[in-house]
Amino acid sequence: ENGGGDAKNLRVKLVLLGDSGVGKSCIVLRFVRGQFDPTSKVTVGASFLSQTIALQDSTTVKFEIWDTAGQERYAALAPLYYRGAAVAVIAYDITSPESFSKAQYWVKELQKHGSPDIVMALVGNKADLQEKREVAVEDGMDYAEKNGMFFIETSAKTADNINELFEVSDNLFT
Ligand code: GTP
Ligand code: MG
Repeated sequence: ENGGGDAKNLRVKLVLLGDSGVGKSCIVLRFVRGQFDPTSKVTVGASFLSQTIALQDSTTVKFEIWDTAGQERYAALAPLYYRGAAVAVIAYDITSPESFSKAQYWVKELQKHGSPDIVMALVGNKADLQEKREVAVEDGMDYAEKNGMFFIETSAKTADNINELFEVSDNLFT
């Protein structure tokens, strides 16, 4: 509880991890600029963006977002970005079981090598592609629950649940 209506300016280091093509960069672009890019290019190394949101009690949260590259050749760089992160968003594509397996790999890696108090969220993106769904909502939900993670399905394309995803992090402060 922030209490007393005191203004606070908080900073949250957040890292996005997940297979190439699941939509990490599109999630960030939607959150930060309110846009969607159907021709989004693969990320090289990682990219950094920040976004400040206002909470109740005049509190602001500045998200410092590391959007990592999902291609295998960049996997060894990941620790540089998740080290010291308060929040890890691990994303998969609901049309791709391979990307769901990859998400589980990242969860295990963070459990082994991430900060012990890191808050993790599992995100099933491309929820607009219901007719191509190959990962059941329940499978994502069950896995997240077993691993003490938040769970949400999003669409960077339609903006569904994108703000809600970042509001998960509000739970850290309220
Ligand atoms: P890497 O940078 O290689 O790790 O990939 P990424 O996870 O950043 O993927 P990116 O955001 O570049 O999106 C990959 C493709 O998926 C692009 O063609 C996007 O337009 C598309 N895409 C992203 N999010 C959505 C979504 O919610 N729905 C649909 N239908 N397509 C999406
Ligand atoms: Mg990307």
